[in-house]
Amino acid sequence: MASSSLSLFLSLLLTLTLTLTNSLPQPERQTYIVRVNPRAKPTIFTSHYHWYASSAFSSDSSQPITPLHVYDTVFHGFSASLDQTQANSLRQNPSVLAVYEDRVRHLHTTRSPQFLGLRTQLGLWSLSDYGSDVVVGILDTGVWPERRSFSDRNLPPVPATWRGQCETGPGFSASACNKKLVGARFFSKGHSAKYGKEAVAGNASVEFLSPRDADGHGTHTATTAAGSIAFDANFSGYAAGVAKGVAPKARVAAYKVCWKNQGCLDSDILAGFDKAVSDGVNVISVSIGGGDGVASPYYLDPIAVGSYGANSRGVFVATSAGNDGPSPMSVTNLAPWLTTVGAGTIDRSFPAEIVLGDGRKFSGVSLYAGKPLSDKMLSIVYPGRAGGLSASLCMENSLDPKAVAGKIVICDRGSSPRVAKGLVVRDAGGVGMILANGATNGEGLVGDAHVLPACAIGAHEGDVIKSYVISSANPMATIVFKGTLVGVKPAPVVASFSARGPNGLSPELLKPDLIAPGVNILAAWTDAAGPTGLETDSRKTEFNILSGTSMACPHVSGAAALLKSAHPDWSPAAIRSAMMTTASVNDNQDEQLVDEATGHVATPLDFGAGHLNLARALDPGLVYDLGDADYVSFLCAIGYDARIIQVITHVPVTCPRRKQLAENLNYPSISVVFSQTNGSRSKTVLRTATNVGTKPEAIYNAKVELASGMNGLKVAVRPETLSFTKAARKQSFAVTVTAAGPTSTPVYGYLVWSDGEHEVRSPIVVSWVQPM
Ligand SMILES: *[C@@H]1O[C@H](CO)[C@@H](O)[C@H](O)[C@H]1NC(C)=O
Ligand SMILES: *[C@@H]1O[C@H](CO)[C@@H](O)[C@H](O)[C@H]1NC(C)=O
Ligand SMILES: *[C@@H]1O[C@H](CO)[C@@H](O)[C@H](O)[C@H]1NC(C)=O
Repeated sequence: MASSSLSLFLSLLLTLTLTLTNSLPQPERQTYIVRVNPRAKPTIFTSHYHWYASSAFSSDSSQPITPLHVYDTVFHGFSASLDQTQANSLRQNPSVLAVYEDRVRHLHTTRSPQFLGLRTQLGLWSLSDYGSDVVVGILDTGVWPERRSFSDRNLPPVPATWRGQCETGPGFSASACNKKLVGARFFSKGHSAKYGKEAVAGNASVEFLSPRDADGHGTHTATTAAGSIAFDANFSGYAAGVAKGVAPKARVAAYKVCWKNQGCLDSDILAGFDKAVSDGVNVISVSIGGGDGVASPYYLDPIAVGSYGANSRGVFVATSAGNDGPSPMSVTNLAPWLTTVGAGTIDRSFPAEIVLGDGRKFSGVSLYAGKPLSDKMLSIVYPGRAGGLSASLCMENSLDPKAVAGKIVICDRGSSPRVAKGLVVRDAGGVGMILANGATNGEGLVGDAHVLPACAIGAHEGDVIKSYVISSANPMATIVFKGTLVGVKPAPVVASFSARGPNGLSPELLKPDLIAPGVNILAAWTDAAGPTGLETDSRKTEFNILSGTSMACPHVSGAAALLKSAHPDWSPAAIRSAMMTTASVNDNQDEQLVDEATGHVATPLDFGAGHLNLARALDPGLVYDLGDADYVSFLCAIGYDARIIQVITHVPVTCPRRKQLAENLNYPSISVVFSQTNGSRSKTVLRTATNVGTKPEAIYNAKVELASGMNGLKVAVRPETLSFTKAARKQSFAVTVTAAGPTSTPVYGYLVWSDGEHEVRSPIVVSWVQPM
């Protein structure tokens, strides 16, 4: 499971897997991130840097600490290369709140804006002047600034509040920035401390010690969120049309925290957060997640801690949910102040057809852009039949050229990057590839820019084709490529790979929050890497088509920019609430959203509140607002003590003596947790709605919709009517959820408040947990 889901991680990871050849010996010192209580600084030190470098923080005065990064905006403290003794001594220091080991993380659209319900002349787009007063900070692999998607034509001057900079370095001069790309910085100290300077800067053709993007991922996510309009965009003819970001006039600030080799260090990511907030970004987009599949508690996760600081200063933070779906509990980036985004398909596909010698046809997906196969039938072979597991997966050196030369080769998905399998087939003399899903991938297909004629196919069809190959004396096949198909139904569908709930840290909080387009997304690309990211792929392309929750996250970041622009007074929680309560739970056939992995109806554990619907998010009617005090109450409720919470908030907090229900966090979704051994089957949770509609006088009525087959679930709402007035913009209510008993499948429904004009929808999910 883990290895097959690995192959779904995006281009950076693909590259990583291929370049992880010369890992360096582990030095005895390593980088630690030190969370300091800033109030403890004695006044004799003129700056925090001087304080951190003084004997106050070193166990041995002959070895003062040299901070790598000093954090002073969303986080207070520093990172430094330390040995075990120094780290332990810091842990005892009364001014130190926490010491973390620096860890590595990995990176987890012409048509998508239209698909989100945006129309050029209507609603959100014109009202918000496309978000030109908003800066979106992208924490990623940097940018390729010459792309048309970074054009600043017709943009008004840079917002006066902007304090960021255009840092220069190899391949990146100050003129790379303009009124679109308003800032660019890079953060390499954590990476260099771990891997050595050469890993970052050793070969300028591979990596740039500057904000320039050697990988492509950062250029893609930045232009998905806020790319300028580019006409005649396409990837090798596929997805031709007008490319534009979700917020085409919003400004981009690039914070390069991930490097082409070996990924992104926590200490560098945190420095990116810190600078982005002090530079004045309004939205931060982070398509990065932990690679180990284990979620750290919020106070041990520098990303959660850094984003708390951003959020509390009014900066909206969107993160990717991860690509380890469809396994339950695979969702990452779980903190309640983050907006966690899963991936759905869009109504565009790149069909290809496999035709077998016996005339049967199977449809799959491909972004192959080279010379097509000739019309004549070719021999087809499944190396896994005789060659074992590694040959079935078309791993490096596993294919016998005598067996595959001149043939179409069937490769199973998993263990190595999809495009790398094509390279193995081509190098062994194969002329085509059929990439078959395994059972865990189901029928979910993503397009790839393969280096040879290739087609991805679902698990079921793959099995049928394999049995034809095995049972025929002379199996033959060909692949026919059919270009771009739009208007695909049903769409959206929850992508197979999209990470799923429940939330492994706090099941009382539903994650992911929502889904957004994340399959086959067209956006700008770097010139420093080919579209597959393979070292041997020398193709240069202005645009590339990628899939992943990495692609879904910047759709929400762009949407947040438009909402922030239209409603400058909304908090990050209000912006998230507007997106969640207006999200669609139906597809473009007006049927319930389907899970690509199973073909069955999906649940809120798969899609959160639903699929982003931007046109409706502009005017949600009501929002569920949240501030720092609410998050602190939640942390108390899940059992964190005041000292641990201070690691996150950095201001001292007190928890109420009587424990509150974690479910009472005023979130736009409701997740009720019952203990399997405890007799309780009923819980009452509280919510407060704020009227943000244009009319201050409004009457909303509650409606409960239970999913079919949820006979055991009862939901009562008190009061059932909310009357808002100018004086009473906020109204509270209670939701009592009663369940029949533990079930093996998710139990869920919806609470919908309606005034006849707005529908304010919240998913209600019931989970049963084993006590610890
Ligand atoms: C840099 O890398 C490229 C591609 O791997 C290689 O062709 C070139 O020789 C390298 N240059 C140096 C100075 O190592
Ligand atoms: C596709 O992209 C190429 C290269 O940028 C461009 O020349 C061509 O006009 C584009 N085609 C369409 C149909 O937009
Ligand atoms: C079940 O749990 C609730 C809250 O944790 C507690 O108040 C109650 O006493 C428990 N009931 C039983 C029967 O253990």
